[in-house]
Amino acid sequence: MENKNLITGIDLGSSKIAVAIGDCKDGEINLKSYEIEESVGIRGGVIVDLKAACECISRIIQKAEKKAKTEITSVFIGISGQHLHSNNNEGKISLSTDQEEIGVQHLKEVIFKAKTSPSSLGLEVLHVLPSEFILDNVAGVKNPIGLFGKELKVKLTSVIGITTAIQNAIRCVHLAGLDVEHVIANMIATGEAILYPEEKDLGVGLIDLGSHLTDIAIYKGEYPAYLSSLPYGGENLSREIATRLHVSLKEAEEIKKSHGVCLRYLLDNNEEINFGKPTAKKIRKLELAEIIEEKSEMLVSHIFARIGNYLPLLGSGIVLTGGTSNLVGLKEVIEQKMNLPVRIGGIRTDLIANPSIFQKPSESMEYATSLGLIAYGKRVRDKEKNFPWEKENIYDKTIGKVFNWIKNFF
Ligand SMILES: Nc1ncnc2c1ncn2[C@@H]1O[C@H](COP(=O)(O)OP(=O)(O)OP(=O)(O)O)[C@@H](O)[C@H]1O
Ligand SMILES: [Mg+2]
Repeated sequence: MENKNLITGIDLGSSKIAVAIGDCKDGEINLKSYEIEESVGIRGGVIVDLKAACECISRIIQKAEKKAKTEITSVFIGISGQHLHSNNNEGKISLSTDQEEIGVQHLKEVIFKAKTSPSSLGLEVLHVLPSEFILDNVAGVKNPIGLFGKELKVKLTSVIGITTAIQNAIRCVHLAGLDVEHVIANMIATGEAILYPEEKDLGVGLIDLGSHLTDIAIYKGEYPAYLSSLPYGGENLSREIATRLHVSLKEAEEIKKSHGVCLRYLLDNNEEINFGKPTAKKIRKLELAEIIEEKSEMLVSHIFARIGNYLPLLGSGIVLTGGTSNLVGLKEVIEQKMNLPVRIGGIRTDLIANPSIFQKPSESMEYATSLGLIAYGKRVRDKEKNFPWEKENIYDKTIGKVFNWIKNFF
């Protein structure tokens, strides 16, 4: 019989699909199994080959089920892609008398006034995220329910994506024989797994340096106030190495991972690296570092262009995640450009009850998003249990997101 406490998160990444299954009861997550596979049929975070991606998902779910000795019927999926972006909205309502207590209905009204619906056809709202309420000009009100007031304002962030891209991800998972319990923007899940509440409160930038994408989230409070995705990642560095050294992309990946450094001054020697099959070639470490440094600086400039205005808000600095954050020297390049402290994120120490399930702590980083999906999924499920009158298929109706958002206040 299916264990109702199980939550499965699937991170549909461009270079890997990662699955984690957690048993969530008594307020903790007990990780039951985790699996990773090179992804096929996904480019830039979106499905480009339905059959290939679906087969890949089926395969990895079967492996995870076997390890967890259970059968999975539904999953929380994490999606990314350049199409995902955020909008900041504000709404305002006036209450009839100052003796009126604010209730859920007022929250719904003010959120609808904030016009969370997307501005053009073909887009849909994936999340409506709370920022703050302002009650009679008093800012920073987290939960106005039960308070008296004359005028209620709300500030929120909606995360918007292209409907077809979102629906294709859902369809792919359906075809693999699984129900989709919820679709979550990857960066929200990743933030859940890596960032501590104090960091979010003080302001923090989360940068996920992936394979095809660099995803950015700016937190100034519990949920992101800004989300954005750049169509560049580690694969662009590998392509540049492949083009300049005339080797295959696979070989360039290996050279980058084993010898890549993106600041020449971090090199401790200038030895020759041997590579190239069938014809043997050589390159000096310094020349390789020059190629990587040039491309990385471009990537960091693109990031700066997106978040430059937010930097003064980031009291807790910047946290890096994603495979490309392993590139030696990239942390330093970002530190110099942003003039802020930068750390490479790890899974929160309080996230799972059994972290020793991972053979090496570094292994857990590849599961940051899928573990975050479990944590976020657990919160969604708890809220739905408390508010069954609002339970609905929240990813196909804006109103659902609004209701879900309201649930966050209880
Ligand atoms: N040690 C390393 N040094 C440099 N780059 C690395 C290292 N390890 C992994 N990478 C790079 O990380 C990238 C994969 O990162 P990640 O697994 O976060 O991507 P993804 O989530 O599948 O993709 P995306 O988020 O873009 O959809 C690849 O480009 C890989 O070359
Ligand atoms: Mg990723």
